[in-house]
Amino acid sequence: MIYTRFIGTGSYLPEKILTNHDLEKMVDIDTSDQWIRERTGIAKRHIAADDETTCDLAEHAARAALDAAGKKAADIDLLVLATTTPDKIFPSTACLLQSRLGMKNHPAFDVQAVCSGFVYAVSIAEKFIRSGSHQRALVVGAETFSRLIDWTDRSTCVLFGDGAGAVVLEASTEPGIHSTHLHADGAYEELLHVPGGVSLGFDIEGDNINDPHYTHMRGNEVFKVAVNTLGQIVEETLVANQLQKSDIDWLVPHQANTRIIDATARKLNMSKDRVVVTVDQHANTSAASIPLALDVAVRDGRIKRGEKVLLEAFGGGFTWGSVLFTY
Ligand code: ACO
Repeated sequence: MIYTRFIGTGSYLPEKILTNHDLEKMVDIDTSDQWIRERTGIAKRHIAADDETTCDLAEHAARAALDAAGKKAADIDLLVLATTTPDKIFPSTACLLQSRLGMKNHPAFDVQAVCSGFVYAVSIAEKFIRSGSHQRALVVGAETFSRLIDWTDRSTCVLFGDGAGAVVLEASTEPGIHSTHLHADGAYEELLHVPGGVSLGFDIEGDNINDPHYTHMRGNEVFKVAVNTLGQIVEETLVANQLQKSDIDWLVPHQANTRIIDATARKLNMSKDRVVVTVDQHANTSAASIPLALDVAVRDGRIKRGEKVLLEAFGGGFTWGSVLFTY
């Protein structure tokens, strides 16, 4: 049996920090540090510099993950990059990153599943490795989500930030990823979307559409579906692996909102000190949020070899999914 092991993690946050107090001065209608902390758990977010792109953030995270794995770019035979905010329409940001890292010939492609992108990308890479066709994958989640935000709209701008995280996955006879679970339901398109696009254009009108270049979200409705759906994906993952809740050592959830994270942790009967939470430090970085949190908990020594880790994500689409692995 070929398993897929996590052999290195890395992450990167841009230098510029935007605090809740900064936002109090920026938005059209009032907001406050207290409101943002109470409703979301977020204290600050990092924002890419004007000349800094998703690929720049991805490169920092990728190099850190390669170093941690003790591998060189030449050792990688598959590159999968999850992003909603590619540098260019094409080529893919994965191809741009591949060139930056001095890699050639092996497949490199982007995955677009918004906040679930990293879980999708890991799941895809795992299938390549398990099939025996590839040995070692670099999987990256990177976003400059700030570019999709109307920074005067308090209902969305307080929630998001920029960053990147990466992992190196390798074929092994030792476990390894036990299972991955992916889902989507496009019927929820209008609850969370950027209305404009390459093919549709940006000349769009509608009751709830202000500027079609930016993120529109019916936050309260997204919240309810997210809590229910994440509970179901946790259950599905446990059943598929014939595990009890108590068998999971660490939950590394998508970092969108501490209230959503707490609700999922309650469903798992997990104490808070077994849940990795970084959303307070960098807000929702979409596809980057899980690998950022994973890297923090690996580097500070919380997640140790042999422990069982559950990643779970929910995002625009709607998309959702999980990855269960022994670190
Ligand atoms: N400051 C102050 N007041 C605000 C702010 C703000 N920044 N934003 C909204 N409000 C107001 C609203 O206008 C509303 O006022 P009203 O009652 O007068 O109409 C009030 O606060 C309550 O609004 P709700 O939307 O009901 O607040 P809620 O408790 O649901 O919190 C939040 C809002 C934080 C957006 C929450 O719903 C949430 O986190 N949703 C989920 C987001 C998410 O998980 N996304 C994941 C996927 S993201 C992706 O895929 C890109």
